[in-house]
Amino acid sequence: MLIAQISDVHVGGGRYRQDLLRTAIDEINAAEPDLVVVAGDLTDDGYPDQYPLAHDELARIDAGHVVCVPGNHDARNVGYLLFEDTFGARDSRLRLESPEGELALVAVDSSKPDLDEGEIGREHYGWIEEGFAGEAGLRVFVCHHHLMPIPGTGRERNQVLDAGDVLSLLRRCGVDLVLGGHRHVPYVWPVAGMLLVHSGTAATLRTRAFTEPAYNLIRVEPDRIAIELRVPGGQARSLGQYPRAWPAELSSHHVEPFVPAERGPALAND
Ligand SMILES: [Fe+2]
Ligand SMILES: [Fe+2]
Repeated sequence: MLIAQISDVHVGGGRYRQDLLRTAIDEINAAEPDLVVVAGDLTDDGYPDQYPLAHDELARIDAGHVVCVPGNHDARNVGYLLFEDTFGARDSRLRLESPEGELALVAVDSSKPDLDEGEIGREHYGWIEEGFAGEAGLRVFVCHHHLMPIPGTGRERNQVLDAGDVLSLLRRCGVDLVLGGHRHVPYVWPVAGMLLVHSGTAATLRTRAFTEPAYNLIRVEPDRIAIELRVPGGQARSLGQYPRAWPAELSSHHVEPFVPAERGPALAND
């Protein structure tokens, strides 16, 4: 299974480059991914004129399944409502058959209107847990913000406010991959049985510690997950190859030594 992860295209922004986005999408289409994840900041400021542009550009993605979540930039200026009008629900769940077994994906809007900080929110926990329940060969969680600090991103203020509870929840759910974006630095943190994978900015020159635009290709094989960073029109670089099976002591799907965050009823429906 091949997953393309693209984020932070910031359509309509001053440092947005349409040619980079088109090149990235052409390359992604040529790779024929099973799934494309667009992990937030599709627009630069959530303005009404930016959403149709973002929609038309991203409609060029040719894949059987495309999952989008909003980022903090999309939620500005009541952009979270425009996101729903343009791309559909801000939270979504997906089940996908693959040779490696069924893929279970849960994608959550971690943005808060007019704040750069994010939160998953405990009202989502039950719904997330339901999405990962049952048999699945691969479990993927998507949100725009970080669950762990990423190097080279300045002040450490980019984790979701409930990162600890969410990490614990996702580990309990047996999640394999967490896909996000936000601070435009491609990075992989292997944590407790999960790979937290962040893509850079695919289509802007809003680069930081990693100075080039970039997106990720994630190849999931029976015994390993290979993650490759791609610069649109440029180089490819490995972000590592990781075993599918973690030693039990490290994945540690054991009982937490504290009272887990209250789940609450699921608020969202598919
Ligand atoms: Fe961004
Ligand atoms: Fe962001």
